[in-house]
Formats: sequence, structure tokens, C-alpha cells
Amino acid sequence: MEQAEPQFKKHVLVCTNERLDGSRVSCGKDFCGKELHASLKEAVKSAGMAKEIRVVKSGCLDVCEEGANVLIQPDNLWLKHTELADIPAILEKLGLKP
Ligand code: FES
Repeated sequence: MEQAEPQFKKHVLVCTNERLDGSRVSCGKDFCGKELHASLKEAVKSAGMAKEIRVVKSGCLDVCEEGANVLIQPDNLWLKHTELADIPAILEKLGLKP
């Protein structure tokens, strides 16, 4: 194992988990997780920050009922009940102008 500095200043984890069995709601099936990931990734790219902020799909963060869920690291900021309309506010939290 080697230890290194992360290549990005921030990672934005967007839960896109899709649980089809109905045992619990899921961000990718019951909420807008997948659309949120795609739109947020595009917005960060359009802002010219794709080399500094990495928007990634996440598996279940175990707070499914609070979805759609977004986690911003290293800020340790959890955004819950997130909707597509929140993208400008998320960009603001990332230090980007919407
Ligand atoms: S499905 Fe998104 S937190 Fe569990």
C-alpha cells in the first residue's frame, strides 16, 4: 500500500443506489439520485472545476429514507432530501457560482 494526497480538493458523493426489492426506499429508485449525479457532474464541468471537484456515484450511505443523499468531503457535509432544484445551492456550497 502507498499513501498519497487525493487528486481532487473535494469529492461529492451522490447516492445512486437502486434497491428494487422494495425492502427500503433508495436514492436511485425512489428519489432523484441518478439525475442529480448526472446534472451535478455536468454543472461542475461547466464551471471549469472538474479537475478540482470530483462528483462520483455512491452506493448506499445507509440514510436511505433521507434521500436523495449527497455527501461532500472533506467538508463532511451531508445534504439530505436533495432535489434537482437544489443544484444551484449545492454549487454554492462547493464555492461555485451557479
Ligand atoms: S439508497 Fe441512498 S442512502 Fe441508501
